[in-house]
Amino acid sequence: MPENETTAPSLENLLHETRAFPPSPAFAAQANAQPELYEAAEADRLEFWAQQARELVTWSTPFTQTLDWSGAPVAKWFADGKLNAAYNAVDRHVEAGLGDRVALHFEGEPGDTRTVTYADLQQEVSRAANALTSLGVEKGDRVVIYLPMLVESVVAMLACARIGAPHSVVFGGFSADALRSRIADAEAKLVVTADGGYRRGAPSALKPAVDEAIAPKDGEPATTVEHVLVVRRTGQDVAWTEGRDVWWHEALEAADTFHEPVAVDAEHPLFILYTSGTTGKPKGILHTTGGYLTQAAYTHKNVFDLKAETDVYWCTADIGWVTGHTYVVYGPLTNGATQVLYEGTPDTPHRGRWWELVEKYKVSILYTAPTAIRTCMKWGEDIPAGFDLSSLRVLGSVGEPINPEAWMWYRRVIGGDTAPIVDTWWQTETGAIMISPLPGVTATKPGSAQVALPGIVADVVDDEAHSVPDGGGGYLVLSEPWPAMLRGIWGDLQRFKDTYWSRFEGLYFAGDGAKKDEDGDIWLLGRVDDVMNVSGHRLSTTEIESALVSHDIVAEAAVVGANDETTGQAVVAFVILRGEHADRGATPEGAAQVQEELRAHVAKEIGPIAKPRRILVVAELPKTRSGKIMRRLLRDVAENRTVGDATTLADSSVMDLIAAGLSSAKPGSED
Ligand code: PRX
Repeated sequence: MPENETTAPSLENLLHETRAFPPSPAFAAQANAQPELYEAAEADRLEFWAQQARELVTWSTPFTQTLDWSGAPVAKWFADGKLNAAYNAVDRHVEAGLGDRVALHFEGEPGDTRTVTYADLQQEVSRAANALTSLGVEKGDRVVIYLPMLVESVVAMLACARIGAPHSVVFGGFSADALRSRIADAEAKLVVTADGGYRRGAPSALKPAVDEAIAPKDGEPATTVEHVLVVRRTGQDVAWTEGRDVWWHEALEAADTFHEPVAVDAEHPLFILYTSGTTGKPKGILHTTGGYLTQAAYTHKNVFDLKAETDVYWCTADIGWVTGHTYVVYGPLTNGATQVLYEGTPDTPHRGRWWELVEKYKVSILYTAPTAIRTCMKWGEDIPAGFDLSSLRVLGSVGEPINPEAWMWYRRVIGGDTAPIVDTWWQTETGAIMISPLPGVTATKPGSAQVALPGIVADVVDDEAHSVPDGGGGYLVLSEPWPAMLRGIWGDLQRFKDTYWSRFEGLYFAGDGAKKDEDGDIWLLGRVDDVMNVSGHRLSTTEIESALVSHDIVAEAAVVGANDETTGQAVVAFVILRGEHADRGATPEGAAQVQEELRAHVAKEIGPIAKPRRILVVAELPKTRSGKIMRRLLRDVAENRTVGDATTLADSSVMDLIAAGLSSAKPGSED
């Protein structure tokens, strides 16, 4: 059994989208990806991948085997080859005479800038690798990175890769508690952090969260962390533990600029990235080196049509998420791209900041999330209209389904009605893009990710794992192993098998509902499990429920993701208060106070991104006779719909009670 129970996606709201935008002949003629790419992959899929691996990646020991699937579902790709990811991302470009090419145009939130060439990057990554080594980090040791979007963040990741120490980046918006559990699960030896970062015009501290995360707590011993390497970013005061804490700039100054990259096996772990699943405990998704790097480079080159000599590429994702790993660090740098790295938010100091950066750096490829596009739509098209966006030639979207209206706006207002949009479907687990149009080949459709990339085999199946016909709906599955696929959940092989491989025999179950249109193109319909997608960030209903019930006043909690125009979904929680606190929800003022208290508690337990938009105090929760909470009914309530079929409830009056109690409740403050 999978760890979650799934429900078939609703096909009532099938999109009836008929618009299609074929590539212009001029774009098609110059595109990296040509229709033959599909043919080559179809003719011999494994040979196709072997060829990509040889062309796009430099191996210190060439591989002779492509795929070993004998240990399924744990794949081995290019297993007898050796390579180093940092060498591929940096040194080989310098060796090829491209040392002066700009790798990163860094733009800090306060407006400070820094230009980093590939030669600069080589020096800095080498110094950082030497610094890590002198702090006792060895091949195989785990390093947690908890940083804002800085040049040092990219350098830290590459320095780990250079010495063969898997990194685990934890998003800077996660709380000390969330950081602590990830450090503990990965048994990290060192943490790289900063004094703070800039957020909406003000410095915001980071190091205190690390201090708290690695201190002994509730009788639990301190973590395995031996050193904390601290980047000075804001200059704010920090508490200092002598012997443990080390300034990044001091360690790097003391380190040599020469470092020999460690050649590792293709299957050596490159990183662990924690993501929310359907249980309370985040999963450490494990990625290895050779296959991951191959698919990162291949997708980045073909999906974004990268021309490394002339393009300026910008992916707005934070390195705390997988998009930042694959499409800020490993994909673009392996391909020798020039890119923008931006520390801040789109509206600081003004709502035209992103477009100002596009104009300033003449960004030609932009990769962002639907939630950002919808937010910009809300702000009005006169804002982007105030900037010269004519350099943009390819636009990407990722993280959640993009509604056709936002897609059309993106194309017209940002893309000047010409730039192809690539709606890219993938996951932390897949490591790299899996389903996407190819610009120059595919006639794009607003709202659809459309087709599996050459080399990838995806399908939509029904409850019995049968492929659905065109026009049908069901579950998205991946039918063949792919190079960047996860190699497991850190320390939990069984959970890996249960979560992804037990729902359908021999197929990878992605957890997404999907449909095929009459042309066989795939439309993603959102998650079918207890995972929510808020502003493109994955959150688990169970994880937030656990956070809520860990508060003294809460007896029981149920969380649902309700549709939201801007953020895709919004977290809505229903809580039953403990007996002695039950009265607190009785008045609107009391309920508002409870809501604020619990929102703050969730922010502390997980992070501000997980704070419920609304928390409703209820007397009962709808449960089946076997005691399972019927979230479907709660979602109806949260979305102000007529409550659906409640006949399987143990007590059918519960929904009336909830609806009656809600009429007085108010939504929480926005942030
Ligand atoms: O539900 C799908 C949605 O995001 C989930 C993966 O989330 P995460 O691992 O955080 O990775 C996000 C960035 C790759 C998927 O299961 N998703 C991602 N991209 C799309 C999408 N849903 C629809 N269309 C997409 N393009």
